[in-house]
Amino acid sequence: MKEKIGIAVLVSGGGTNLQALINAEKSGALEHGHIVAVISSQRDAYALERARIAGIPGYAFVRKELGADEFERRIAETVDSSGASLIILAGFMSILSENFVKKYPDRIINIHPALIPSFCGKGYYGLRVHEEALKRGVKITGATVHFVNEIPDGGRIIMQKAVRVRDGDTPEKLQKRVMRQAEWIIYPKAAEKVCRELIEKEKNNGKVQS
Ligand code: GAR
Repeated sequence: MKEKIGIAVLVSGGGTNLQALINAEKSGALEHGHIVAVISSQRDAYALERARIAGIPGYAFVRKELGADEFERRIAETVDSSGASLIILAGFMSILSENFVKKYPDRIINIHPALIPSFCGKGYYGLRVHEEALKRGVKITGATVHFVNEIPDGGRIIMQKAVRVRDGDTPEKLQKRVMRQAEWIIYPKAAEKVCRELIEKEKNNGKVQS
């Protein structure tokens, strides 16, 4: 059997990036990764339905109900017990604490719907990013996959793809184009790259899941 890295995908909403990852695993494009858990910060996220359809265990933890510490403790417990060694944030709309992030160095990746360092950091998420890009009048935007560290959107960049802004774009139109032309393409590719590199690393520690 091929060596694979266990992946926990953290979501909050529609989960189209999760779907792109599920599809990539199915098609073999995500050859070295296996999604073992989907964890949502919203009980009614459609991403959980996507997980259910794909037969992946889904979990929901709500920060407001649990408090910040317990919220992160439950996430970490679920990640660890599922056997995941890579955390993929896919539209996860909650900023993880420095404490949490430091537990998983170089093992958390995120996708941001702009070309970092533009339109990123605290307060820039989802549709807001595209609203700001249109307000500023940029002609090129895109998406960025990066490692997560203690600075919001501040970790090492793994992959980027540019997308053209068109006359008459609305934030919604631009968001869809960025997803279709960039996010759903580069996220599975970047995930595969990181998984491959982790396998190399884990081989040396004798810790690969097969
Ligand atoms: C995506 O556009 C993703 O890049 C963005 O939220 C959307 C989630 O959509 N993430 C951020 O803004 C993180 N700062 P999805 O649930 O359909 O994947």
